[in-house]
Formats: sequence, C-alpha cells, structure tokens
Amino acid sequence: MPINLSNLGFSVKLLFSGYLMAIAIGYGMALVQILFTHGMADGKFGLSIEDIVYSYYGNRSGSMLESKLNGSMKANASETDRFKIIQWVRDGADQAEYDISIKPLFEADCLPCHNGSMGGLPDFSKFEAIKERAQSDQGATFASLIRVSHIHLFGIAFIFMFVGGIFSLTSGVPMKLKCAAIIMPYVFLLLDITSWWLTKLNAHFALLVVAAGGGLAMAFVFMWVASMYEMWVLPRRLPFSDRRDALRRS
Ligand code: HEC
Repeated sequence: MPINLSNLGFSVKLLFSGYLMAIAIGYGMALVQILFTHGMADGKFGLSIEDIVYSYYGNRSGSMLESKLNGSMKANASETDRFKIIQWVRDGADQAEYDISIKPLFEADCLPCHNGSMGGLPDFSKFEAIKERAQSDQGATFASLIRVSHIHLFGIAFIFMFVGGIFSLTSGVPMKLKCAAIIMPYVFLLLDITSWWLTKLNAHFALLVVAAGGGLAMAFVFMWVASMYEMWVLPRRLPFSDRRDALRRS
C-alpha cells in the first residue's frame, strides 16, 4: 500500500497535526492583526474596502492628520481645537504659526498619548512628526510595500510548502482538485501582493486585495480540513485489517 495520510505512523500524524494546529492558530492571529492595523484605517472598527483603500492608496484629498481628527482621534480634542488644527493643516502647516497658536493645542490634547513613551505612536512633541502627517496621505510608502511584500512572499511560501506537502499525501482527493489546491495558494499569494501595489496606483484594485486574500484562506481551509480528516477520521472507517496494518507501522 503506498504511503498516504491515513496509513501514516501515529508519531508522524502527531507531528503533522501539531504543525497544522499551530499554523491554524497563527492564521487566526494574523486575521486579528489585520483587523487592528487596517481595520481602523478609516476611523471605524471592522475591515472594509475603504480601509484597504486608505491603507494602500491613501486619502489623497486630505492629510492623515485631518482624516484621523475626523476619525479615530475625534474624541481627543474639542470641536474648536479640531477646527483650528485642521484649518492650520489645510493652510500648509506653517511652523511659525504652529509655534504661536497650534503647539499649545497639541500639548493639551495629543501629548498625553503622543509623547514618545508609547511604543508605535508618533511623538508629537517633535514638529517633524506632525509636519509629516500634515501632508496629503499617499497611502503605503514604497519602502513599506517592499518590506511587507518580501516578508509575505518568504513567510507564506514557506508555510504552504508544508501545508501543501502534507496535503499532497491525501489519497481521497481527485488528482485535478489536488493539483489545483496545491498551486492555488501561490497564485493567490502573487495576486495578493501584486494587488497591493496596484491599489497604491489605483484605488479600484482594493477589491482584488480582498478576493486574493479570500482565495488564499479558502485554499488553506480546504487543505487543512482534508489533511486532518484523512489522518484522524478516515482510518476509523477502514476495514479492521487495514487499521491493524496501519497501527503496526507506528
Ligand atoms: C488617549 C490617547 C490618545 C490621544 C489623547 C491622542 N491619540 Fe492619536 N493615536 C492614539 C492611538 C492609540 C493611535 C493608533 C491607533 C489609530 O491610528 O487610531 C493614534 C494614532 C494617531 C495618528 C496616526 C499616526 C500614524 O502615524 O499612524 C494620528 C495622526 C493621531 N493619532 C493624531 C492625534 C492628534 C492630532 C491628537 C490630539 C488632538 C491625538 N492623536 C490624541 C492615541 C491617542
């Protein structure tokens, strides 16, 4: 009998299952991470197409400072303070004007959190940090796209080498479907990353980001469930003699 997932030794099944479980939990964490990094981009909780447009294409009609002051930072300043800051941003974020009338607003409303002591938050006691976010928002930078692209290509290709490798040992999946499931993650991975770059150029491609991410997830779930099924459920359905045979191997 050729080696397949259902007749593998118990120890190898444990190894494969442990890996698949860890990857599944990691996938779940990655989704939560997406919710936090991109989910709030438009100021509203939950992931939407607008979030993806904001994250990659940006909000080119306004600055990040303005969109945050109308979004997730709205509650941190009074109506008049917000109005003054936004007006100043629209007038070109001039430093002289900042020193006279805007700095005290930042000190009172924003520095409690944006003072450099909270990791990840920009430090607004530095004028440059404010100035940078007063320019119109161009979305993801070239440098950040390069960084995230190569991390994703290496990391996800690595994951699907093993997920696909384990899945390739299934015996009950028709060959065509099997080949499709194995190659899909790589196709969707390339499509996903290409669509980030395209979305930076044109906001309409945000839909492609969602479609590619969804395709990747579907291929993953399919291979995961099929592999687990053949390792743990299918052997119980085999005739007793085959089962004894499989046990001897472990
Ligand atoms: C209670 C703490 C708190 C206060 C006060 C606060 N912020 Fe924030 N700010 C945050 C957190 C947390 C984030 C990251 C989450 C987010 O982007 O919504 C953030 C993010 C931002 C960002 C995005 C920075 C980036 O580079 O991603 C801007 C711009 C911003 N705040 C502006 C302001 C301004 C202007 C004020 C004052 C009117 C202010 N914040 C007051 C907590 C605060």
